[in-house]
Amino acid sequence: MKVFVTGKLSQRASDALMNFAQVDAYESDEPMERKDVEARLEGKDALVCILGDKVDGELFQLRPQLKLVANVAVGYDNINVSEATDAGVLITNTPGVLDNATADLVFGMLLASARRIVEADGFVRRGEWTGWKRELMLGADLNGKTLGIIGMGRIGKAVAKRARAFGLNIIYTRKGDDKKTDDELKKKFDATRVSLNELCRRGDFISVNCPLRKETRHLIGREEIALMQPHCVLVNTSRGAVIDEEALIDALEQRKIGSCGLDVFEHEPSVPKRLLALDNVVLAPHIGSATRETRAAMDELAVKGLIEAFSGKLPENTVNPEAWQKFSANLKNQTINA
Ligand code: GLV
Repeated sequence: MKVFVTGKLSQRASDALMNFAQVDAYESDEPMERKDVEARLEGKDALVCILGDKVDGELFQLRPQLKLVANVAVGYDNINVSEATDAGVLITNTPGVLDNATADLVFGMLLASARRIVEADGFVRRGEWTGWKRELMLGADLNGKTLGIIGMGRIGKAVAKRARAFGLNIIYTRKGDDKKTDDELKKKFDATRVSLNELCRRGDFISVNCPLRKETRHLIGREEIALMQPHCVLVNTSRGAVIDEEALIDALEQRKIGSCGLDVFEHEPSVPKRLLALDNVVLAPHIGSATRETRAAMDELAVKGLIEAFSGKLPENTVNPEAWQKFSANLKNQTINA
């Protein structure tokens, strides 16, 4: 079988993939143009891609031999999953292996925002520091405050685990509504489920950890931001479009909320100039999972799933198991015809 990889893979993942398939790899960290992906996909059975690659029905129509897309990311808003399912294309992602790295960054941004670390760094570098001052760069304590976690999935829980160590009280929202999970979260993190509006009103700190879906696009809009406290620190390591970026910038400019840590942007890699001009934001270039260990684990999980699927086993990290039957039939037909 033939695979196209739109980026670099760790050595272990790359070796495993090359042992299993004929691999064509772009092997660069620069994003690929869609037309180049289309061209290189000719005759390929599988695509290993990154979150910047758009994958949709048009692509499946153009390359009908394509049977699987392994997205080396947990978020898969770059992929039209229902069109993939219709085409019998199996989609996998990389859940679980990046929870700790992402939660670490949440706290990095939370602390950087609450304690003004980036602002303080610039202040020292510019030579503006003239001596210890009582009122210099005053920030906020985490201990005893309330953290609102929007999206209490795997990453949200990793954030909650760290929050306990910082002495934060936890409130959260999540998608499902079974009482058992809420009871478990209460027991484990002393976390309380609340409505989104209540979370916005009560959170001294808010971390966005839900995936981007149709129903979560602009989940945090002008109205929700208006409910937030003037000292609220908002951190987003999920997807930019979960927050209405323009409404957020307005609030930051008018100091209606305290500060913000943003690892993701609505139209990334484009970052609005108005955001760049603010001193009450900490910005990062979508590096939530960017540790050596985590990136290697993501690559390995992506490759493992691909090998399993083409060996006849439904991978655990399949996003659309409903495509499995069609995928298996396509695979069988191809083997018979070969
Ligand atoms: C990163 O943003 C991911 O979805 O893995």
